[in-house]
Amino acid sequence: MKHELSNLRLAQFSEFVATHMGLHFQPERWPDLLRGVQNAAPEFGFTDEESCVQWLLSAPLTRQQIKVLAGNLTVGETYFFREKRVFEILAERILPEWVQSRRGCERHLRFWSAGCCTGEEAYSLAIMLRRAVPALDDWQVTILATDVNPRFLHKAAAGVFGEWSFRNAPTWLKEQYFHRLEGNQCVILPEIRQMVQFEHLNLAEDTYPSLLTDTNAMDVIFCRNVLMYFAPAQSQRVVEHLHRCLVDGGWLALGATETTVASSGHFTPVNFDGAILYRKSERPPAPVVMPVTPVAGEMPVVEQPRVASPPPVPDAPEMLRSTREMANQGRLAEALVLANKLVRAEKMNPVAHYLRAMIVLELGAMPEAAKALQRAVFLDPDFISAHFALGNLARNAGRLKEADKHLTNALFLLDRCGQDDLLPESEGMTAGRLAEIIGSIREETLAS
Ligand SMILES: C[S@@+](CC[C@H](N)C(=O)[O-])C[C@H]1O[C@@H](n2cnc3c(N)ncnc32)[C@H](O)[C@@H]1O
Repeated sequence: MKHELSNLRLAQFSEFVATHMGLHFQPERWPDLLRGVQNAAPEFGFTDEESCVQWLLSAPLTRQQIKVLAGNLTVGETYFFREKRVFEILAERILPEWVQSRRGCERHLRFWSAGCCTGEEAYSLAIMLRRAVPALDDWQVTILATDVNPRFLHKAAAGVFGEWSFRNAPTWLKEQYFHRLEGNQCVILPEIRQMVQFEHLNLAEDTYPSLLTDTNAMDVIFCRNVLMYFAPAQSQRVVEHLHRCLVDGGWLALGATETTVASSGHFTPVNFDGAILYRKSERPPAPVVMPVTPVAGEMPVVEQPRVASPPPVPDAPEMLRSTREMANQGRLAEALVLANKLVRAEKMNPVAHYLRAMIVLELGAMPEAAKALQRAVFLDPDFISAHFALGNLARNAGRLKEADKHLTNALFLLDRCGQDDLLPESEGMTAGRLAEIIGSIREETLAS
């Protein structure tokens, strides 16, 4: 292939791509990297790859640039019920236990397909849940599906698939969950389509776990056949981040060839007949207060807890911290009790209302969440994360004009911050990054 890039330039660029997108191009894959740049250059307005690479190397990548590069550098290979044993294990071994133990007020299930490609994996999860969980409509189900490549996400959201996506699928799949279209194409049923939320997320960035990206308190994360394209140090970082996104006892599914990344001590590999899943270890149980033991011969004393001194009343920052921690661990019912207490004690504290909003949101009470968020922005009109959350709520409900108003407010406030300023209540999101996220949400909304 004729080109103008020196090996030095290719080495620099492959390092750059690894840093910003995780993708690892060893020298033997430089022809792929070169092909990607040659295809991307015209999209960036360049006629030659040398100027394009020089320009890209000269400043940190924007989200838009990452999208263009991802469109040309990622590998999109996937199909329905890929490595299907993992779906069977979830349906037969893991879900029944959760369904039993969460029957009360904790009726929520949270799944994430990270690196979802064109959506087959996320839809397989949705279909598996429909078949495995009785009365699924009584549950608050989240299936988040993210990818760095906008073209894949677009196709995923359309839900139209050709024969190749069904190459290993069970025979009932097409008949029961798709409508046939012309030309051997099939479209997924609307009730399955609407179970999955597709979003852009670059796993090489620090935007997860976060309430803002809805990537916290996950029960199960699928990140399969993604990290095999990553540099080892980057994939280790991703695994560490994903670990923090899971509830205690939650599960990570990796591709069959990606086993080594999870042997870092963060997870316990569990070998189910035919597939390995990685479990986030449970928190150690809380220390038990021993009852007073009666001395032999004495009258037994009525057992009561030994309380040395009344427990201190936690102050607001402490309550905020514990509420946040519980919410992040997915202990939503407990978190809500604490959040209710918090807003009673701290009526004028916008952060308390915001936190409560995030919890009720996860429990599926959208109007209640919107009310709490409105209270938060009433108390603090500069509360960027709350404006953003209100915008997302309205967008998900199809109220696009209202969504745009909230997102514009957030952008206006972000404009007054420095690019690298960390936003309060965003778990490490910078102002620059959120502005980019909002920018592309608005673009997508306009395009749709
Ligand atoms: C081979 S596909 C795997 C799809 C699916 N998980 C499966 O196992 O069938 C790899 C996916 O990872 C995505 N990917 C690569 N780098 C990524 C990154 N930095 N952040 C998010 N997704 C990424 C690619 O765009 C692609 O869709």
